[in-house]
This record gives sequence, structure tokens and C-alpha cells, in this order.
Amino acid sequence: MSWDVYMKGIILAGGKSSRLFPATISMSKQLLPIYDKPLIYYPLSTLMLAGIRDILIITTPYDLPLFQRMLGDGLSLGIRLTYQTQSSPQGIAHAFILGESFIGNDTVCLILGDNLIYGEGLSNTLQKCTSLTQGSTIFGYYVRDPERYGVVEFDENQNPTRIIEKPKTPPSNYAVIGLYFYDNQVINIAKQLPFSARGELEITDINNYYLQQKQLQLIKLTRGTAWLDTGTADALLDAANFIQVLECRQGLKIGCPEEIAWRKEYISTTQLLSLAKAISSSDYGKYLLNLVTDHEIITI
Ligand code: DAU
Repeated sequence: MSWDVYMKGIILAGGKSSRLFPATISMSKQLLPIYDKPLIYYPLSTLMLAGIRDILIITTPYDLPLFQRMLGDGLSLGIRLTYQTQSSPQGIAHAFILGESFIGNDTVCLILGDNLIYGEGLSNTLQKCTSLTQGSTIFGYYVRDPERYGVVEFDENQNPTRIIEKPKTPPSNYAVIGLYFYDNQVINIAKQLPFSARGELEITDINNYYLQQKQLQLIKLTRGTAWLDTGTADALLDAANFIQVLECRQGLKIGCPEEIAWRKEYISTTQLLSLAKAISSSDYGKYLLNLVTDHEIITI
């Protein structure tokens, strides 16, 4: 296959999700529904909107067959999906060590499997990020409770000086979201990281390394963007309600990989209809069927 964008994509969808037990005892959080589709559809859609079509899904050995059953090799979506297991949660930065041969000599975008991002102009911003050749790009998002995330410290000129993982006293309200673009150095940086006090290879250490090298670009997402958390039962329900309200109001789906593949012409109308017919008893399937007869041009 040949792509317009050569950047590789990784979705990190492992972990224990113990904060959601018992809902996640037998299956990964990223397989749980957010309203009308599994959680992983949202980060997958984000990568596809960026134009990234060669994607590695990293998950646990138990969940891997379930993801494969759901998404297959990606060909029906005009993308390529490959899979890799992570036997225990050794940290987000571990993804680059596990993904070394998949990344090869290319640049890479990592998205956490539980991150849901939605907003005007996001596709354009992400597409621009895929042309990165050197350094890194990360995103800051203003939140009420920054202590739950990696948080950006700024100098008096609003330049980032440091990122602190889950600080007790946050230096700002800007949380670093789980979407990161890196050049190929990231593999070697990850390999040299020490394990943190919580026993993980920290993505924040990678970002601080790029920052010290003056190779980190921080994009502040505007307040018109939604970055939703899915870490707790309440957050999962909030995310589902958010999607339900918008989808029902507009009659348009959020995080629909089949629609993105079709609108981006990765797949033909015939291919879309075949995907739709396979699930036509659901409202989701009916939505896909109706896309073809709906002549309105809607940007994604
Ligand atoms: O969501 C953004 C935040 O994600 C950032 O602000 C933080 O800097 C970053 O460390 C991370 O914080 P979390 O505490 O939310 O990460 P968590 O351990 O919950 O992992 C996020 C997702 O990645 C989760 O769905 C499970 C998956 N994961 C995590 C680890 C550590 C894996 O698949 N493997 C792992 O080894």
C-alpha cells in the first residue's frame, strides 16, 4: 500500500484499568462502549483524521484477539492495522520500544486508547503535525483538575519550561493530553529511560528530554475543543452523554472510522455499503447506509 502520509501511528490500548473494576476485569476498557461504539473507535478516528493509515495497536495478550476480531487487518477501512502485545503495563513510553520495528525509520504519532478528542479545526491541526520531520509536538488542554495529569510549567513569556507528572501543586491548568507526535529519535530516547518511582517508563520524561533539547512544540488546544477523560465510571458516562447529545442533535456521528475512510476516499462507496450491510440491524449500520444517499457535503 502507498500512503500520502508516511508517519506511523500507535494506539496504546493495554493496561489494567483497575479504576473501572469490575467493568474491566474480563475485558479492556478500550472495548467498552462510549454511547454507540467502542472507545477505541475514537482514537482510531483521530489518527485517521490526521491522515495516518499505518497503525499499530498495542494491548494485553488477553485482549488482543478481541481487538483483532473487531478491527481485523484494517483493509476494509483502507488502512493497515497490526497488533503487538504488552504483557504488563510498563509505562506509556514502553510503546516505542515495543513498536521499534513497526516504526522503522519513520516518524510516529502515539495516541492513548482512552483519549477522546473532538473539536472544530482539529483535523487540520493534526494533519499539519504529520509533516513533522524533527522534534516533537504535544498538546496542552486547560482543565479544572490538572493534578490528575502531566502538567505544563511555563515561564513569564508562556514558554514551557517543564512537564510534571501528576504534581500535588500544579504549576498551571494545562494538562498534556494523550496524543504525541515524535521524530525517530523517540525510540532511542525511550530505550535510555530509567523506570520511574511508580515502575513505569514515563512519557513525561520523553517530553522533558525533547523540551531540554529545545525540540518540543506545545500546542494549546482552544476552549472550543473537547478532551474527554474515560478513567472513571463517571467520566465514561459523561463521555457517552456528550457523544449522545451531539450525535442526536446533528444526526452526524463522532468517531466513525467507516465514514472517515469513505469521505477520505480510502474506500469506495461499494466497500462502505458492504461494511454497512454487515451491521445494518443497528442504528450505526443504518447511519452508514444513509451516508451514501445523503448528498450534503459535510467536512469531517
Ligand atoms: O491522558 C493523558 C495523561 O495520560 C497524561 O496527561 C499523563 O502525562 C500520562 O502519564 C497519562 O496519564 P494516566 O495516568 O492517565 O495514564 P494511564 O496509566 O492511565 O494510561 C493511559 C492509557 O494507556 C490507559 O488506557 C492504559 C494505557 N496503558 C498505560 C500504561 C502505563 C497501556 O496500555 N500500557 C501501559 O503500560
